[in-house]
Amino acid sequence: MLSPENFLDQNIALEGKVLEQVTLVTELRDRIKAARLAGKKVAFVPTMGNLHEGHLSLIDEAKSHGDFIVASIFVNPMQFGENEDLDAYPRTLEADKEGLAAHGCDLLFTPTVSEMYPHGLRVETRVEVPELSKLHCGASRPGHFVGVATVVAKLFNLVQPDIAVFGEKDFQQLAVIRKLVADLCFPIDIIGVATAREPSGLAKSSRNGYLTKDERVQASGLYKILQDCKAQLSRGEKIDSTRSNAVSALEAEGFKLDYLNFANPLSLEMATEQDEEIVILLAAFLGSTRLIDNIVVNRGQS
Ligand code: PAF
Repeated sequence: MLSPENFLDQNIALEGKVLEQVTLVTELRDRIKAARLAGKKVAFVPTMGNLHEGHLSLIDEAKSHGDFIVASIFVNPMQFGENEDLDAYPRTLEADKEGLAAHGCDLLFTPTVSEMYPHGLRVETRVEVPELSKLHCGASRPGHFVGVATVVAKLFNLVQPDIAVFGEKDFQQLAVIRKLVADLCFPIDIIGVATAREPSGLAKSSRNGYLTKDERVQASGLYKILQDCKAQLSRGEKIDSTRSNAVSALEAEGFKLDYLNFANPLSLEMATEQDEEIVILLAAFLGSTRLIDNIVVNRGQS
C-alpha cells in the first residue's frame, strides 16, 4: 500500500488527471489523505454506476467546486427491496470509467458488498431520516431511504468530502441527504443539480435502458404531463382538479401510476392550497420499468 508521502511522489495520477480506481477502504483513505496533504478541496459524487450524461454533469458541477474529484460506483443492496432490480441493475464499469476520466474525475471508489458491509447487511447500523422518508418513494419502497441514508453516511465518513453533488431527479433522496447532513453534523456542502433530460423531455436515468424503443418515446409523456400540471397550477387551478386531469392523462398514455403527489418542497408533506411552492412528485410504470420525475411550481410566479 502506498503511504500518503509516497503517493505524493507519484503525483502524475493527481496532476495528470488520470482516473485511478480503488476498491479497498484503506486505499481510498490513503488517496484522500494524500490529496488533502496536497491542499486539495475534495468534491464527491456517489453513484450506482451505469453512468449517463446526468451523472457526468454532476462530475462537471463537482469540478466547479473542488479540485480533487472522487466518484463512487456501488450498487447498494440495502436500498433495494426484495422484488426490485438489484441483480438486473446494469453494470457498465469500463464505459463508466471512460466517462469519468473524460470529465476529469480523479479517483473512483468501487467497493465490493463485503468491503462496505463486512459483517453482513442484517447486522449493520442503520441511518434513518424518518419524516422525509415516509411518503412518496418511501411509501412505495419501504426501507429504501434507510438503505440510501446508511450508505451515503458511510461513504461520507470514508471520503470526508468538502462538497457532495446529487441530482434533483431524485428529489426526495436529495431532501433526505440534506437532512441527514444537517442532523448528523457532517461538515459537507450538498449541491443539487437540475435533472438532465433527453431532447424529448425524458429525464435521463439508468432505468431508461430497460425501455423498448417504443416505450422510450411513450416515456417522454411523463414530463409533458408534469409541465401541464405546472401550467394549470400557475394559472390558478386547484391541486385536486390538476391532479385528476394528470391521472387521466397518465392512464390514457399507458402508464401505470405508482404515485402522483403534490407536496411542500421542504417538508415533503402533501401540499395544501395555501402552499405557494409545490413540488409535483411522480412515479409510474411503463411495462415493468418504474420511472420517476418531478417539477417545482411557484404559484406566485405565473
Ligand atoms: O442516487 C443514487 O445513485 C444512489 O441512491 C446513491 C445516492 C448513490 C446511494 O446509493
